[in-house]
Amino acid sequence: MPVVEVSGVSHTFGEASARRTVLQDVDVRFDEQRVGIIGANGSGKSTFARLLNGLIVPTEGSVTVDGLTTARHGREIRRRVGFCFTDPDAQIVMPTVGEDVSFSLRSTDLTKEQIRIRVDDILGRFGLEGLVDHPSHLLSGGQKQLLALAAVLVTEPALVIMDEPTTLLDLRNAQMIGDVVAGLDTQVVLVTHHLDLLDRFDRVLVFDEARLVCDAPPGQAIDFYRRLMS
Ligand SMILES: Nc1ncnc2c1ncn2[C@@H]1O[C@H](COP(=O)(O)OP(=O)(O)O)[C@@H](O)[C@H]1O
Ligand SMILES: [Mg+2]
Repeated sequence: MPVVEVSGVSHTFGEASARRTVLQDVDVRFDEQRVGIIGANGSGKSTFARLLNGLIVPTEGSVTVDGLTTARHGREIRRRVGFCFTDPDAQIVMPTVGEDVSFSLRSTDLTKEQIRIRVDDILGRFGLEGLVDHPSHLLSGGQKQLLALAAVLVTEPALVIMDEPTTLLDLRNAQMIGDVVAGLDTQVVLVTHHLDLLDRFDRVLVFDEARLVCDAPPGQAIDFYRRLMS
């Protein structure tokens, strides 16, 4: 699994007059397959998640994935690290399911036929086979989230970051996405408020007020978080 190293990271948004520290002195290294991230709204979870693929470069400290620094190797990092947003509509760009997944492979040197095989394969894995020519915007919420995830995974990232992928879904679809995540063989970092999805995770990080306040196995980290919130 890729090795992610976050060293001496602090991050502030805004100009001097209205500076806001959203991450403070975060140091963590992980190479486990499944890492969960929990914490209150505004605690810095999304900022942390976005640091991991260089969507955000920290104002202090460094983030590396397999030794590549996000500040300097953004493009290579994003080839290895996929990112899935909460709202699939923000990520789905093409009119049909098949076109949307193919679009992720547009700048590879795969042939049309190779792309078709990759697309069919990933849609099959996610139960979306039959929907290749279906209009993307007519999918259900759960199917849209599956499509967004498929469009990330078709590029075969070594690590996939998911920022609250089940927050907009009903319980059944959340469970379904949870099962898909559990079955992935890539490394996963999952930010979530659905704590039961973290049951079999290797490690869970708890953020509170810009700080990493707990780093433990799921049971222990979730207990810590519940106490923090009560
Ligand atoms: N682009 C931005 N500019 C200014 N402030 C931001 C920006 N993004 C997030 N913030 C602020 O940083 C804090 C942490 O945000 P975020 O990392 O999204 O937290 P979480 O995902 O845990 O809810 C919040 O107070 C948020 O308002
Ligand atoms: Mg967030």
